[in-house]
Amino acid sequence: MKILSNPKELLTSLKELKGSIGFVPTMGALHQGHLSLIKKSVMENDHTIVSIFVNPTQFLPNEDLSTYPRRLEADIKLCSLAKVSLLFTPSYEDLYFEDEVTLCAPSKLGYVLEGFSRPSHFDGVLRVIMKLFNLVKPTRAYFGKKDAQQLKIVEKMVNDLFLNIEIIPCEIIRDEEGLALSSRNAYLSNEEKKDALKISKALELASKEVVKGNKDIKKIEELMGKTLAPLKVEYAKVLRRDFTALNELEIGNSIILICAHVGSTRLIDNIWI
Ligand code: PAJ
Repeated sequence: MKILSNPKELLTSLKELKGSIGFVPTMGALHQGHLSLIKKSVMENDHTIVSIFVNPTQFLPNEDLSTYPRRLEADIKLCSLAKVSLLFTPSYEDLYFEDEVTLCAPSKLGYVLEGFSRPSHFDGVLRVIMKLFNLVKPTRAYFGKKDAQQLKIVEKMVNDLFLNIEIIPCEIIRDEEGLALSSRNAYLSNEEKKDALKISKALELASKEVVKGNKDIKKIEELMGKTLAPLKVEYAKVLRRDFTALNELEIGNSIILICAHVGSTRLIDNIWI
C-alpha cells in the first residue's frame, strides 16, 4: 500500500493505475463503520483509495477540531490489511490555498438539522470533498448512511455539478448493543455509553411503531423524545428522504433522525423507513 500526502505525487501515482477506482474519504480514527465502506470498495473496484484528513473547514470554532481522535499508525495497519491500494494523508497546506475559490452548501438542504446547529459545516464538507474528488477522480465514492444529510448533499453536488462519479450509500454499522459506530464514541465514558444507547433504542421503538401501522409523525416524535430523556436532544424528527417535511409517514420514503448530546459529546443516528 502506497502512502502519499502530496497532491502532485498522488496525481503522478494515479496515472499508473488502470481500471476502476473506489474512493473512501475519512477523517481517520478508523472503526468497523469505515472498514465496511473500504471492504465494499475493495470488492467492487480494481483499486481503492482512502483519504485521512481531519478537515478544519467543516468544524465550527467551538467544536472539537483540536481533540478529534487521531490514530494514524493504527489506521495505516487497518488500511493495509484491508487491501487498500493507496492511502492519501494530506496536510492542511497541501489542500487549501489563500483566498481560494469556494463551494457553498445548498441553501435549503444545507441549513436544516445538522446545518442548522452547525452553519457552514456542509460548506466545509463540500469544499474538501470536491478537492478530493478532483484529485482522486474516482469511478465510485463510498459514503455511510450514518451521516445521512452529508450523503444527500454530496449526491446533490455530484448531480448539480455534473460530476461523473457514482456515489454508493453504505449501511450503518453498530456495536453489538446497537450504538452506531463513530470516531466520536471514543469521547464517551462507560456510563455515557449506556446513555448513548437511548438513541438507537428510540429509533428502534419508532420503527416498531411503524411496523404496527402508526404513521402519525407527531406521536412517533413524542415517543422518541420520551425514550431519549433526560439527554439534551437537538432533534428527533421524521422527514421525507429528501429532508422535506411530511404530513404522514411514507413507507419507503421516510427517514427518522436523531441528534442528542451525551455529556459533552454530540451524537447522530438515523433509520431509513
Ligand atoms: P468520517 O466521520 O471519518 O466518516 C467517513 C465515512 O464513514 C462517512 O461516509 C461516514 O458516513 C462513514 N461512517 C462513519 N461511521 C459509520 C458507521 N457507523 N456506519 C457506516 N458508515 C459510517 O464523514 C466524514 O468523515 C467527513 O465529513 C468527510 C466525508 C471525510 C469529509 O471530511
